[in-house]
Amino acid sequence: MIRQLLYRSGQLAEFTAADIGRLLSRARAFNTGQGIGGLLLHHDGLFMQLLEGPVAAVDALYARIAADPRHCEVRLLVRAERHAPLLAGPGMAWAETPYDGEALVFPDVETDRCALDRLETAGGDRVAAAMRAFLQGAPVPGGGLGCARVMERVL
Ligand SMILES: Cc1cc2nc3c(=O)[nH]c(=O)nc-3n(C[C@H](O)[C@H](O)[C@H](O)COP(=O)(O)O)c2cc1C
Repeated sequence: MIRQLLYRSGQLAEFTAADIGRLLSRARAFNTGQGIGGLLLHHDGLFMQLLEGPVAAVDALYARIAADPRHCEVRLLVRAERHAPLLAGPGMAWAETPYDGEALVFPDVETDRCALDRLETAGGDRVAAAMRAFLQGAPVPGGGLGCARVMERVL
């Protein structure tokens, strides 16, 4: 059995495309070594990330990610055990969708089309459905508000 974990968070730090590039290349090197795969999404100042792999390794990585001060309001949406991962292979795929017709925030960071196609073909799978909804800007059940949005409303 593998651990499947899905969380959502609000971006707190200002990330440049280079910052995201660095984060992804470090994550890919580390995750691949641990046999962990997944997909990191960005939309409207929010992150959603799927982590899949050996139970102890995914739980330990999530604890580290959740404590990362560059994001906040980290909300665990799914923590399950599955026979097989939703996405193939270790690493960390990336995808971003623009907010309300605006330009992409990180246009130079390459979107992983295979991972997005997999979300489409996974049909009613609840994790794939939550990730598709997130990319479309729809409210995610149990997802709450990201602090980026909250800050905007408060200010
Ligand atoms: C949204 C987000 C997603 C992240 N995803 C990963 C990841 O998949 N793998 C990883 O090793 N680090 C990831 N990181 C970075 C970790 O939070 C952390 O900085 C890194 O593991 C180094 O940890 P350390 O400083 O305790 O050594 C992510 C950070 C953020 C903000």
